[in-house]
Amino acid sequence: MYVCVCVCVCVCLSQLGLCISRASATVLNLNCSLVLLPMCRSLVTFVRGTRMTRRLLDKSKTFHVACGVAICIFSVMHVSAHLVNVVRFSVRYSDDFPALNLARYRGELLSLVPGVTGVLLVLILFLMFISSSYCVRMSNYEIFWYTHNLFIVFYVILMIHMVGGALKYQTNIEAHPPGCFRANQSSTEQQGDELDTSEEEERRCNEDARFQPHYPQTWLWVSGPLCLYCVERFYRYIQSRDPVTIVTVIRHPCDVVELRMLKKNFKARPGQHILLNCPGVSSFENHPFTLTMCPTENKETLGIHLRVVGDWTERFTQLLLPEPRIDMEILPMAQKRRYPKVYVDGPFGGPSEEVFNYDVSLCVAGGIGVTPFACVLRALLDGWMGFRLQRLYFVWVCKELQSFYWFAELLCALHHKLWNENRPDYFNLKLYISQPDSLQVIEKYRPLTSRMQIGRPRWKLLFDEIGKSNKHKRVGVFCCGPKGISRTLHRLCNSPQYNGTTFEFNKESFS
Ligand SMILES: Cc1cc2nc3c(=O)[nH]c(=O)nc-3n(C[C@H](O)[C@H](O)[C@H](O)COP(=O)(O)OP(=O)(O)OC[C@H]3O[C@@H](n4cnc5c(N)ncnc54)[C@H](O)[C@@H]3O)c2cc1C
Ligand SMILES: NC(=O)c1ccc[n+]([C@@H]2O[C@H](COP(=O)([O-])OP(=O)(O)OC[C@H]3O[C@@H](n4cnc5c(N)ncnc54)[C@H](OP(=O)(O)O)[C@@H]3O)[C@@H](O)[C@H]2O)c1
Repeated sequence: MYVCVCVCVCVCLSQLGLCISRASATVLNLNCSLVLLPMCRSLVTFVRGTRMTRRLLDKSKTFHVACGVAICIFSVMHVSAHLVNVVRFSVRYSDDFPALNLARYRGELLSLVPGVTGVLLVLILFLMFISSSYCVRMSNYEIFWYTHNLFIVFYVILMIHMVGGALKYQTNIEAHPPGCFRANQSSTEQQGDELDTSEEEERRCNEDARFQPHYPQTWLWVSGPLCLYCVERFYRYIQSRDPVTIVTVIRHPCDVVELRMLKKNFKARPGQHILLNCPGVSSFENHPFTLTMCPTENKETLGIHLRVVGDWTERFTQLLLPEPRIDMEILPMAQKRRYPKVYVDGPFGGPSEEVFNYDVSLCVAGGIGVTPFACVLRALLDGWMGFRLQRLYFVWVCKELQSFYWFAELLCALHHKLWNENRPDYFNLKLYISQPDSLQVIEKYRPLTSRMQIGRPRWKLLFDEIGKSNKHKRVGVFCCGPKGISRTLHRLCNSPQYNGTTFEFNKESFS
């Protein structure tokens, strides 16, 4: 089977080298222009219109990856076809039309602009492809990040790649039609058989064939999205060039730090995230964090909760909360706190923005994955109006009891508010501890104790229960946490209906 495929490919390449290289070049042009669009984050956030568009735009990263994979596949085709072409251009050197040749003499191995730039493009693409793999991203995100930024060099070289003009067309086809004889050429020299004199004179032309390279088209495809991307980056640079004012830094249990900041004219919706840049840690790295507190009319503060997981978060936390020094102890409080400069880019949209747009929503959080929903809960507490949500199921799974303290105040406050408003059914809370040490909860968080269970949730039972209580409704399922949870929920949402209830999975991408 594989041998057959290989033989077919070889035959196709040898027969149709030029066609394949041209066709794959067009597919490459298209994909090189499309791949940039999902990376225009502000634009994607801006155009999130109807629910259908939003659900499509949530898959923008998948689209970006698909374009990237297509670029790699068609590059292999393009390069293979050109390898055949190079040999053919070289071996089949035309002595009749020297201007048509790419090689300067028969047998020359071509090393012109398209060849050199082509090799560079393949090299960059290979590096980007390898560093984008899941294992590289997970083990060292910086390698992925820095290598991916080679895309700028890639586009510059891509523009130059076409300038060489490897393929040419004849410009004077009327003055020099195919098959005609040059001034001092006889029919025997040209085609082997002898024609009578009048016919020979009729087919004789005085002008030599003239050739011109094809007009490079790559820039026509790529320049629009590239300009859009540059404008978007410039807009984001302008928006994020002033450092934010850090108001409060709170250390929470289980290596979580809460950061509250002020930024002029900053508006955001629950479920959105920002990119943080701290030059004190690294000038080039931007790290995404979901807003756990959005600015409102009464309170301009924006907040995030970050978990220390790697080198950037660790160094950033050290700058925010340095170890106390003895000589600093005697200074007044105001002089003690000197926060690092922090820049905020965004906000950018996320699937959790949709929670309010279903009658019933199920939000499932694993560990620090609770952050997008914290902002949703805060919005409910602040009494946001005008949304569709009638009932919210909230499931939060953590390894340790202490993790619940990150948002224990918020959960209790929302519980009390709904209780006082006589709407206890509105908010259905379930907390799970997967690896408990003890179950002792402080007295003031008592409402949480009664909703706490040990072990992992039994997802099928949970779906059955929600299906029974919300017959013939469409339930929005939102998940943020370890991949295992989202995979299970996605599968359950796609399995047969629960009492006529449909579960619609909203994909959140974590890595
Ligand atoms: C949309 C989104 C929202 C997030 N919200 C939060 C949040 O509210 N709270 C929180 O604690 N964490 C959040 N994260 C995860 C957070 O961005 C990473 O934990 C952080 O960037 C880790 O950086 P590090 O160098 O300390 O760790 P590393 O050890 O370098 O990275 C740990 C993992 O984090 C991811 N990561 C690292 N750097 C980046 C980056 N620049 N961009 C995207 N992913 C990266 C990679 O998957 C990597 O495997 C969010 C991630 C995404 C994609
Ligand atoms: N908006 C975003 O994109 C965003 C925001 C913040 C965080 N995140 C991501 O969220 C994830 C959570 O990080 P974390 O380190 O805090 O999580 P964690 O502590 O590793 O896991 C949280 C809980 O999920 C449970 N769990 C794991 N797989 C499960 C499954 N299949 N079914 C049921 N329960 C399961 C774990 O149980 P066990 O103890 O039994 O394993 C644990 O109790 C990270 O991947 C992070 O990148 C994303």
